[in-house]
Amino acid sequence: MTTSLLTQLSHIVGQAFGAVGIDPSFGTTFPSQRRDLGQFQCNGALAAAKQAGRNPRDIGAEVMAELEKSGLFSEITLAGPGFINMRLTDDFLLGHISDLAEDPHFGCRSFHTPQKVILDYGGPNVAKAMHVGHLRATIIGESLRRLRVFLGDEVISDVHFGDWGLPMGLLIKEIERRNPDLPYFDEKFAGPYPDTSPVTVEELQEIYPAASARSKEDPAFLEAARLATFDLQKGRPGYRALWQHMRDISIAETRTDFDLLGAQFTEWKGEADTNDHIPVMLARLKAEGYSEMSEGAIVVNVAEEGDKKEMPPLILEKSDGAVMYGTTDLATIEIRSELHDPDSILYVVDARQSLHFEQVFRAARKCHSLKPACHLEHIGFGTVNGRDGKPLKTRDGGVVRLRSLIEDAVDEARKVVRDTGMAERFEPAELDDIATKVGIAAIKFADLSNQRMSNYIFDLERFTKFEGRTGPYQMYAAVRIKSMLRKAAEQKLVDGRLMATHDAERNLMLALAALPEAVAGASEKNAPNILCDHVYSLSQEFNAFYHECPVLGEANADIRASRLRLCAITLRQMEQILFVLGIDVPERM
Ligand code: ARG
Repeated sequence: MTTSLLTQLSHIVGQAFGAVGIDPSFGTTFPSQRRDLGQFQCNGALAAAKQAGRNPRDIGAEVMAELEKSGLFSEITLAGPGFINMRLTDDFLLGHISDLAEDPHFGCRSFHTPQKVILDYGGPNVAKAMHVGHLRATIIGESLRRLRVFLGDEVISDVHFGDWGLPMGLLIKEIERRNPDLPYFDEKFAGPYPDTSPVTVEELQEIYPAASARSKEDPAFLEAARLATFDLQKGRPGYRALWQHMRDISIAETRTDFDLLGAQFTEWKGEADTNDHIPVMLARLKAEGYSEMSEGAIVVNVAEEGDKKEMPPLILEKSDGAVMYGTTDLATIEIRSELHDPDSILYVVDARQSLHFEQVFRAARKCHSLKPACHLEHIGFGTVNGRDGKPLKTRDGGVVRLRSLIEDAVDEARKVVRDTGMAERFEPAELDDIATKVGIAAIKFADLSNQRMSNYIFDLERFTKFEGRTGPYQMYAAVRIKSMLRKAAEQKLVDGRLMATHDAERNLMLALAALPEAVAGASEKNAPNILCDHVYSLSQEFNAFYHECPVLGEANADIRASRLRLCAITLRQMEQILFVLGIDVPERM
């Protein structure tokens, strides 16, 4: 396992501090913002001087003298009040990059202790088409899953289907109202279960809003739906059979969306999977005194001393016996703990559900539903907005379906791809594949490159541009390297030992060496935007290098071989990060 360059440098500089009798922790070193002054910088002399009541420049000079002895730096200077600026010798830099290239994880695993993680994301619901709200849950969740796998974690990804509760009763009653003769509504229904669903997924998507609207106007309908929900949960065979159909066809539908977005789930569980455990849980909570009755409902009080905002109790069972979203989530924690004994359970869900998760997490701790060491975290995110700055809606104010967002992005990408003259160079099938990849990369990069908690404006024209901080730009950078390496192979050019002959090469190497810190930051903060920043700066350094340094056209065979190797390493790292971001790179463009 390779140690990151910054860790190594901080250690070396720390030792120099130690050698002059100062605490080595002052040796923390970071990349310099001013490449003209140095590649790396350490400001520890200032803090050390303050502590010791000495002159920072004196300390800086002593540390510098020690660093000189190491032979690892080609230049060390003292700037301003005592900043130490450093430039690495080429040998040191090349040695490090060669080590990184040997490491399948580019030195990223040295920061990380492998964990068992359950990631809960996606979160679609029966009968409702996935919509814009599920876009971020899927894109961010999948990227965090890939990041964790890259770091060596054991990841269980669970879609946590919304398949229980009152919406199910509403659907059953509305279907019954429309088709009373179907066998499912007979109290004595005992099968046989028809193979095919009596409703299509398109019908369901129309039935659900209709049922929901009816329940608001018709109290008797609502009451009947409540009762049906209750009967379903108690196991009434006809309702279960109908529910199973609705669940199956809804899952099949969401699978198409998830496949388009490249999301991979190891588990397709849902709220309903908690049904058998809920009575067991409720009995325990009651017996151990964690739950109480409040206005006929069973609740867990989760308010804590010092709460600044009001913290309502978590309702587990309403007076009519119905279980709630919080009940299934608490029961899911118990089931997951029992089954997997995870180190953490992470929920990638809209930030607007933060109160819900706060209540559930507090209840889980209070009721000892999991091991105290198990970490629970709600990884929230902001909304996707329209140009008016409000959450994205269709023109007539409806919910924007996920599928149509993706289709729009691919359409926009098709235009852009055609404008770049690709239409003449590729067969229609390949062109279509490229446009799909570009469209999806555009949405994903735009989403992930924002700070997770901020809202952003959905602007396909901007997202699909081949310039600037966009998915297509990143993709193009990788494709360009691929094409170059393919040409090199055709010309039977081979790569060779790394050399540094130009600053553009050194800068590219420094960008490659910065990955471990980016990955560590992204995983600690669950912040894929840090990886987007990294891959963007890597592409920029690559483009600068490509501009300054001929590769295939380089006359000196050793330099050419070294540059080919540098290109290959860059491509491997770029593709790795783009993979974590969920971006597929075509062979050519
Ligand atoms: N189905 C929910 C929704 O559409 C999201 C589920 C999130 N996960 C969870 N364990 N609550 O809002």
